[in-house]
Amino acid sequence: MIPVCEPLLTGKELDYVADCLRTNWVSSMGKYIAQFETQFASYCGCKHGVSTTNGTAALHLALASLGIGLGDEVIVPAFTMAASVFSIIYTGAKPVLVDSEPETWNLAVSKIEEKVTTKTKAIMPVHIYGHPCDIDPIMQIAKRHGLSVVEDAAEAHGAWYKSRKAGGVGDVGCFSFYANKIITTGEGGMLVTNDDRIAERARRLKDQAYSPAMRFLHTDLGFNYRMTNIQAAIGLAQLENIDVFVDLRRKNAFSYNAALGHLPGITLPPEKEWARSVYWMYSILIGDDFGVGRNELMQRLKEKGIDTRPFFIPMHMQPAFLTMGLFKEESYPIAEDLSRRGLYLPSGSGLRDEDLNYVCRSIREIADSP
Ligand SMILES: Cc1ncc(COP(=O)(O)O)c(C=O)c1O
Repeated sequence: MIPVCEPLLTGKELDYVADCLRTNWVSSMGKYIAQFETQFASYCGCKHGVSTTNGTAALHLALASLGIGLGDEVIVPAFTMAASVFSIIYTGAKPVLVDSEPETWNLAVSKIEEKVTTKTKAIMPVHIYGHPCDIDPIMQIAKRHGLSVVEDAAEAHGAWYKSRKAGGVGDVGCFSFYANKIITTGEGGMLVTNDDRIAERARRLKDQAYSPAMRFLHTDLGFNYRMTNIQAAIGLAQLENIDVFVDLRRKNAFSYNAALGHLPGITLPPEKEWARSVYWMYSILIGDDFGVGRNELMQRLKEKGIDTRPFFIPMHMQPAFLTMGLFKEESYPIAEDLSRRGLYLPSGSGLRDEDLNYVCRSIREIADSP
């Protein structure tokens, strides 16, 4: 089976991990943590990086460090991975959904302000599938209403928004380093920020909120969201190759675009003129003229040994939230349409040309014999 994604661990990962084991620095202290945090933050154009156990923890930590909690509201797209919304609920705040833009599949900037209330404290734009959101107008809305912006950049390491990196524009940017991400630490995450206060608070909260004044004195509700030195060692080695990985993802995307672009009923992934997408997952929409529906296409590709994934199921259609009484009777037509028609194809940085060509040939064959 050609997998949707596999990590490429062909740099210094093994050497750095062996160094951790040889020197006994296996837990959350050790030189790789600071190196990985500093270098990844700097890659994003930020002053501080605070590593975490995963991307969900980074989002929760970001919101907690901003002081967001019970009674507050956070605006988030309906079309995202559930972790964005989970993290808001962990703080006690209420997630408030916004539909997507049909062109970029990201949250619709024009629909944010109608959702702002006196309780709104933050906006969480999500850079879906590696394409950055239109962040400047989001920052302007946030400024007008005194809100924070927490970028969910879990899928967008290395993407550019105009001349800045995705995740480095808002008050805080949050990343995941799960194995299918542009760079991985196995499991892991990081928040980046230019704000000294947020960084200091995040560092304290993620480490059980120990008081700097006295050991085992806790002034806040803390968490254990500490990354290990072993994970950071992998992350540092991955970071040394991040631009190579981004280029490989983009090269895959351009090859797919060239091979599939002329087929009727296929919408290719977006790339706005102000954006440089990292095509975290090469994502397409299947329209009626394609001949077979999205689900049948996925099934027939599977029979040919090709793994794919459907798009996210929107947040207002998730039993987890409906049973909490959230999003009842709400509808987000663009998010619903994306979810019904979207899938992603094998997209890993290590995808071989012959496998990519086989995927394209298989899609053409299915289109020719619906
Ligand atoms: C948009 C988005 N946000 C958050 C997360 C959560 O990251 P993690 O799986 O590292 O907790 C993911 C994970 O895939 C994601 O895609």
